[in-house]
Amino acid sequence: VTRLPALPRVVLRKNLARSIRRGHPWIYRDAVTAPTGIADGALVFVVTEDRRPLVRGYWDARSPIAVRVIATADDGPDVDAVVQARVEAALERRFGFLDRGQTDAFRWIHGEADGLPGIHVDVYGRAVVVRYDGTGAHAFYRDLPARLIDAAGAHGLILATAIDRGRDGEKAAAAVGEIPDGEIEVRENGLRFGVDLARGQKGGLFLDQRDNRALVRTLAAGKRVLNLFGYTGGFSIYASGGGATSTTTVDVAAPAIAAARRNFERNGLPLAAAEFFAEDAFAFLERAITTGARYDLVISDPPSFAPSQRALPAALRAYTRLHRLCAQVTAPGGLLCAASCSSHVDGAAFLRTATEGAAAAGRRFDLTELHGAAADHPTLPVFPEGDYLKFAHGRLS
Ligand SMILES: C[S@@+](CC[C@H](N)C(=O)[O-])C[C@H]1O[C@@H](n2cnc3c(N)ncnc32)[C@H](O)[C@@H]1O
Repeated sequence: VTRLPALPRVVLRKNLARSIRRGHPWIYRDAVTAPTGIADGALVFVVTEDRRPLVRGYWDARSPIAVRVIATADDGPDVDAVVQARVEAALERRFGFLDRGQTDAFRWIHGEADGLPGIHVDVYGRAVVVRYDGTGAHAFYRDLPARLIDAAGAHGLILATAIDRGRDGEKAAAAVGEIPDGEIEVRENGLRFGVDLARGQKGGLFLDQRDNRALVRTLAAGKRVLNLFGYTGGFSIYASGGGATSTTTVDVAAPAIAAARRNFERNGLPLAAAEFFAEDAFAFLERAITTGARYDLVISDPPSFAPSQRALPAALRAYTRLHRLCAQVTAPGGLLCAASCSSHVDGAAFLRTATEGAAAAGRRFDLTELHGAAADHPTLPVFPEGDYLKFAHGRLS
């Protein structure tokens, strides 16, 4: 008989045991009864209504997700050892496919898909940045930054700094070492990018689009390229490096646009053929339509329009409008690369917004390829919530 550790017992009230057994890592608060006063980040035992043991996970006292699952009975009694093994396995997995001579910025731990729910860990050169999905995760993984530095060192990756970015929008704090002053430089597919680890969006760069940026490099030769929602110029730098005749980068965040310009300089790319607009992308497009500016390759990578399931109808309308405007500025036979980073919008619904947006502009969108995030952002079949990125590339005739 397995002896259960003396952990607070959380009873799964709803009939969700099957989905949890299959490996879904989230248990919502309205699905459980739990003793009062469980501390944020405390390990709990989840049992069925007839008191059969299910899984161990950590408690979040505030989030609608009350428990994030860490271990099943098969994982043995030592949860610390489980976490350590997954931290190391995640790094070994990345080292298996990354070309580290060309790329030194990557996602080390992609939360749920790496068996470490509630955290995202990114490496930028000699720094590692950790983001937590709430106070439960922050407490549960409190010794993680030091462990990351040690685990990296054991695999030959020497890190000097671990930065705690808290939740999105929180102030960065140094967990190990010191936060670099200003931008550091990292390499991605041989290109150079400045990264502000304390203030940059996500942990610094949108690493999930790395392979899609590389795809754009192969499509850009001889083209006038428009990069909407361009952040620090990622797609534009690749397009310029791939032989675009001109690039136009638009982002509402003025500091991102200033960084985009610096990234062109960093890579020795011709600034004379690069335009930058710190402006709302919709306003830019409306103006471009009236002035008659046209592009051969348009990239659209907006922030999530659907933060919740309730926001889905409005989000689909916004994507359709955006894609109509994109089609209106795309030259006949030109290419549209349209992205969505909302997990509530599935691939089929997203493609419809490209087709319908194009049709509203009197054009036809013929899909060439549909991609997701790069391999350091894996997905789990049992966890569709984590499958968020869509990158559709097609021709507008
Ligand atoms: C998903 S990120 C783009 C990442 C970028 N493609 C890259 O490869 O680094 C979305 C960007 O949209 C910008 N943004 C948000 N709302 C905007 C708007 N209304 N108009 C233009 N840019 C906007 C944000 O500042 C952010 O940089």
